[in-house]
Amino acid sequence: MSVHAGQKPWTVPALAEAKREGRRLAMLTAYDAGFARIMDQAGIDLVLIGDSLGMVVQGHDSTLPVTVADMAYHTAAVARVLQRALLVADLPFQADATPERALDASVALLQAGAQMVKIEGAGHKLEVVRFLVEREIPVCTHLGLTPQSVLRLGGFKLQGRDEQAAARLLADARAAVEAGASLLVLECVPTPLAQKITAAVEVPTIGIGAGPHCDGQVLVLHDMLGLDSGHRRPRFVKDFLAQGGSVAGAFAAYAQAVRDGSFPDAEHAYA
Ligand code: KIV
Repeated sequence: MSVHAGQKPWTVPALAEAKREGRRLAMLTAYDAGFARIMDQAGIDLVLIGDSLGMVVQGHDSTLPVTVADMAYHTAAVARVLQRALLVADLPFQADATPERALDASVALLQAGAQMVKIEGAGHKLEVVRFLVEREIPVCTHLGLTPQSVLRLGGFKLQGRDEQAAARLLADARAAVEAGASLLVLECVPTPLAQKITAAVEVPTIGIGAGPHCDGQVLVLHDMLGLDSGHRRPRFVKDFLAQGGSVAGAFAAYAQAVRDGSFPDAEHAYA
């Protein structure tokens, strides 16, 4: 029996309500039904079908080779078993290059069972966000380190470090919410900047390497289980399997640590 049996399934409006009430959100990536079922039962609030699957499942060096068909396959597998968690799916590389392409890809992902799509970046993507939201597709905007920009950025690096970059990120966050985004993911940004963004927007912020002041946290499944993904382990990753003793225990320990604010601590964040 689930520890969260009887709790209502998450909806998009309930996310903003959680922020208003100060309830933190625990999100993890999943790629298959087996792990997703355990996450759902352990009280994980949001499940992300990350295009990180290109790296941790398919063995690529980046997320760039992932296709909409790949995303739809994994989304459908996870959607079959979730009862409570809200399911978010990434639009893979260039599937959001134009509003029309993004609409086709989003329809495929929503028809596979996603309840929201995630788009990396601002700039011309703001028009895409607006276009999708006007067509009843909930959107999450991913800012900071956007892994689909790895070639331009020259690696997976901390973002928003100087005053100008920080001001741009804050402006991007405001613009994404103004365009209709219901959720923001902030990846690899200094803790004070993530705190400022979180205070400036009415939608929840979900941090990954963004410090403890976000409205929720997300980690990649393989990272939080301490699995060797073949890539350098980022500073913000914590092995919850060591603490939880089992996969279900790791998910429950993570959810608890996010909710009580003990994760991330200073050791797992950027000052
Ligand atoms: O693809 C992914 O797993 C993600 C998370 C790192 C937020 O976008």
